Amino acid sequence: MKFEFENPTHLVFGAGTLSQIGEIVRKHGKKALLVTGGGSVKRNGTFERALSSLNAAGVTVIECAGVEPNPRLSSVMRGAQIARDEGCDIVIGMGGGSTMDAAKVMAAAVNYEGDPWEMIIHGQDNWRLPTSALPIITVPTLAATGSEMNGGAVVTNEKTTVKSFVIAKCLYPRVAIVDPELTLSVPPDQTAFGICDLITHVTESYFNGADGTPLQDRFAEGVILTAMEWGPKAVTDGNNLEARAQVQWASVVALNGWVQVGTAGAFPVHIIEHVLSAHHDIAHGAGLSVVNPAWMRFAAQTRPARFARFAQRIFGLSLKHPDDRDAAMEGIDRFEAFLHSIGCPTRLSQLEIGDALLERYAHDTVHIIHDGEGHLPGRPPMSEEDIVEILRSAL
Ligand code: NZQ
Ligand code: ZN
Repeated sequence: MKFEFENPTHLVFGAGTLSQIGEIVRKHGKKALLVTGGGSVKRNGTFERALSSLNAAGVTVIECAGVEPNPRLSSVMRGAQIARDEGCDIVIGMGGGSTMDAAKVMAAAVNYEGDPWEMIIHGQDNWRLPTSALPIITVPTLAATGSEMNGGAVVTNEKTTVKSFVIAKCLYPRVAIVDPELTLSVPPDQTAFGICDLITHVTESYFNGADGTPLQDRFAEGVILTAMEWGPKAVTDGNNLEARAQVQWASVVALNGWVQVGTAGAFPVHIIEHVLSAHHDIAHGAGLSVVNPAWMRFAAQTRPARFARFAQRIFGLSLKHPDDRDAAMEGIDRFEAFLHSIGCPTRLSQLEIGDALLERYAHDTVHIIHDGEGHLPGRPPMSEEDIVEILRSAL
């Protein structure tokens, strides 16, 4: 396969690196829109520390607080308006993936002509990608999405109940300041959801990508094994800085493009989950934890060898032959048991989701992205009926 790859984000990684935020931001702007979530950065002192570093470097700070989990389009519009009114020349997203994503889309919305919702893929004929954005600095406080070092963002249109994504070159942050100390206060449930999210980022390309990508397979397996080794330690003892650092590095690598380059894989589990969180406002990683094993059992029917290899390489199962379906299923069971062991839900009922809207979820999923046959891309491509079947199996 031919491919090109570029990730222009400058990464600053390590405990204590937050103290560099002032000098880093000052290289790219003078007046910053500082975007934060529901208050965790204030409660744990991150906000104050960042502010004093920014002030010391002579950066003026305009705050945009209150970005909600599963960030709403209205929050993006509010932030973009503040940036315009105040003449901000740089945007800092400091928080979880929701806050960083909202900050990225705000930075692009400031100069976007027309309705910013048109940047987000939602089944429209013309996907109008943003071509410019204010410089973006990301400061993740939760290890999960990888948003800090990629060009993607996910936003919910609360009026239409559609949650979807944009991927654009201008959304790559200039700098990602990844300080694992900032994640010490993440509660066990969100820590576990983040672990599930980062693992799912690599299982998507592992199972849906092109054949013949041995190095990418090893990258993905390395991310999964690292997350499975260090993740439970971070869940059990939130103050274990080494575990926090290993998990956060895995989360960065899982979706900064290195693992996926050359695989051309679709992300069907993500598209299905986004529809669930659009309708039910659940945590993204929690939704994935239910959908991914259910999807794996479905997909393993058509590609047992791929799932058998996952079982072999991740869980050390021995295969009777490359197509060993029993081993494939055993590997998926063990993966689900791992998710359960760290406190992730594995049934829709644990998320208080019943069977009333299964057809609607399937319809909404396929509406966002479909191939020429009207199927959700992936291996195998899925019809609406297939998606209903997968979700029904997870009730
Ligand atoms: O809002 P605050 O008060 O900050 O609290 C948050 C929120 O309640 C809290 N939290 C974050 N850092 C904390 C903390 N609590 C204590 N201490 C800290 N240090 O955690 C809660 C969840 O935050 P959120 O940002 O929603 O979580 P996450 O990082 O999992 O982000 C999820 C969002 O990212 C999207 C998801 O769809 C979802 O909307 N994604 C973005 C991607 C991307 N840009 O590349 C890819 C992903 O696949 C994903 O789709
Ligand atoms: Zn994800």
